[in-house]
Amino acid sequence: MKCSVDELLTFFTQFYAKSGLSDADAATMAGAIVHAESRGVSSHGLARARMYYERLLRGQLNTKTELTIESEGPATLAIDGNNAPGMVVGNKVMDLCVEKAKQSGICFATIHNSSHFGTGSYHVFRASEKGMIGFSICNTDACVVPFGGVKPMLGTNPITIGLPTKQYPHVMLDMATSVVSRGKVLYYEKVSKPLPDGWIVDKEGKASNNPKDVFDGALVPFGLYKGSGLSIIIDMLCGVLAQGKNSRQLGSFHSSGLEDSNTAYQNVGFCMGVIDITRFIPFAQFVNGIDAFYGEFKQCPPAEGTEEVMLPGEIEAKQAQKCLEEGIEIPPVIAKEFHELAAQLGIESPFFKE
Ligand SMILES: NC(=O)c1ccc[n+]([C@@H]2O[C@H](COP(=O)([O-])OP(=O)(O)OC[C@H]3O[C@@H](n4cnc5c(N)ncnc54)[C@H](O)[C@@H]3O)[C@@H](O)[C@H]2O)c1
Repeated sequence: MKCSVDELLTFFTQFYAKSGLSDADAATMAGAIVHAESRGVSSHGLARARMYYERLLRGQLNTKTELTIESEGPATLAIDGNNAPGMVVGNKVMDLCVEKAKQSGICFATIHNSSHFGTGSYHVFRASEKGMIGFSICNTDACVVPFGGVKPMLGTNPITIGLPTKQYPHVMLDMATSVVSRGKVLYYEKVSKPLPDGWIVDKEGKASNNPKDVFDGALVPFGLYKGSGLSIIIDMLCGVLAQGKNSRQLGSFHSSGLEDSNTAYQNVGFCMGVIDITRFIPFAQFVNGIDAFYGEFKQCPPAEGTEEVMLPGEIEAKQAQKCLEEGIEIPPVIAKEFHELAAQLGIESPFFKE
């Protein structure tokens, strides 16, 4: 069954407003869920929407979302996120970085006491849509083995870098440092699909295709020791420079927080930054240059079994356009869950209308 982008935005804004968030913050949360789902990143879309809601109800996320700026320089910000939802914190920090970069050319921000921020692109687009380069990293609770180890010590620690373009979709490299995000494995579990090879290991460190093995097993870093190394650096920056907890200390996003007061708030660390292109070259020169680059790669002859070379963010941008025009396909199990929740909460359901 399908729902339009607007129907889902309206529904999830009302849904999150029931959790005690302001209407503006509820709209930010809804935007994050629909952004992910419409870009084909279902791991961070509707399948996760209820978890954030329940964390808000249980007090594991703060419904008051003011940030505290702990220290500030001409091009730096050190921020306490006060345990508000990471989607709201990330959006607000990116906007602060954009404003500061207009003044100082660049801005680099560290954030602690934050929580799961969904897809990095949701935040980084706020810079690229203003004609600036944006980037973000964050850490997550340990669920990935380091290269050469069998104990999960790293998070899926994502990195996102976005560049504006003129005629092509914004270049948006947005990826977990594990082969795939944990959310993608949980999505396969939710819709009962076996995993492709090479995504996870079981509790003995042996390769597995059963998504349920991720619960006591682990994900694997991308690119062997290179992905493992990048993830270690992200955890160091988020866990030390940003003063968040490190991946081993972080409370699980999936924990109810009831069994241990330590897990009530996650205290995720983020680092985010923005670069004002015009401090280096005129904006037109930059976007024309990136477009020329883009076009060159589109001319690359495809390898066997591939239709064309895709640039970072291109697959997601095409999917988002399709969803905007044709609606978003929702798996029945997920539509049923929210249809029932809508009835309980007294919200009009956009699901099963036909
Ligand atoms: N908040 C968190 O704690 C957290 C943790 C991990 C991941 N995430 C999010 O999960 C999402 C998915 O990450 P992932 O690593 O599982 O996704 P993925 O494996 O699909 O990789 C995504 C990146 O690779 C590019 N890509 C995908 N297929 C491609 C192809 N065939 N050719 C060229 N480029 C291609 C995409 O454009 C995108 O930039 C991201 O949005 C990330 O921010 C969030």
